[in-house]
Amino acid sequence: MAEVVGGLGTSHVPAIGNAIAKGLQQDPYWKPFFDGFIEARAWLKRIKPDAVVMFYNDHGLNFFLDKMPTFAVGAAPQYNNADEGWGLPVLRPCRGDAEFSWHLIEGLVGDEFDVTTCQEMLVDHAFVVPLQLLWPEGDAPPVVPVAVNTVQHPLASPARCLKLGRSIGRAIASYKKDMRVLVIGTGGLSHQLDGARAGFINKEFDMECIDKITANPEGLINYTVDDIVRLSGTQGVELLNWIAMRGALLGRVSKAFCNYHIPISNTASALLVLDNEAAEARRAA
Ligand code: DHB
Ligand code: FE
Repeated sequence: MAEVVGGLGTSHVPAIGNAIAKGLQQDPYWKPFFDGFIEARAWLKRIKPDAVVMFYNDHGLNFFLDKMPTFAVGAAPQYNNADEGWGLPVLRPCRGDAEFSWHLIEGLVGDEFDVTTCQEMLVDHAFVVPLQLLWPEGDAPPVVPVAVNTVQHPLASPARCLKLGRSIGRAIASYKKDMRVLVIGTGGLSHQLDGARAGFINKEFDMECIDKITANPEGLINYTVDDIVRLSGTQGVELLNWIAMRGALLGRVSKAFCNYHIPISNTASALLVLDNEAAEARRAA
């Protein structure tokens, strides 16, 4: 049977992709950020995932404002990257696992999440930058992309996103193949890219989010989307991807590692690595 072996939340700023392309990992501006991923990669070597489910938001590459699904799941054998206009190199396609995708989709629709299914799907910086950070050699396992709309209101509530994650967590646990699955949520934490509050960051709220994502995700579900915009910035609502990630961790969860660094570009960048203790215990047995 498949099992969720861990969860990981990370920011997804395009400038990180540019820093990788230019080899700036040791640059004083970038070093505290990139150093956080050394430990995350060591953790990945220990938990050895065979597959990834990634909650992220598309920023206009695959979906635009004219057609915006609230939740969309990739069901393709591979996912292509393309030029978003950030000046980043277009990366090689990422492997998918269509059979696993369809199993997750069956579970979601069975749980009354009427998702959009995508047998072709371009993936943007929110998807490829985290993969570059975690698998710099380009050897990431197959990934199922789950796109959550954080771009055009109305957005799904934190409560709904937690339930989405839980539905996927149950679907993973019912998959017949022996597979170790890592669940990732990308984006956040607090940031706002435009408008009167451009540059807005809220460290206190970010710390609350990191604590609650780790130990008490229900503690976030009474916030409305408007509350999160107010507390975290217009793009800080990417927190919804972290909430969905956490929902998929149905075991006893503990923090393996965390890094928080202000700012990367306009963003309070965060990395949170979570162990699922139920899986740990089974592995040790
Ligand atoms: C930035 C952050 C994002 O989440 C994003 O999608 C694009 C840009 C930034 O801080 O520059
Ligand atoms: Fe973003």
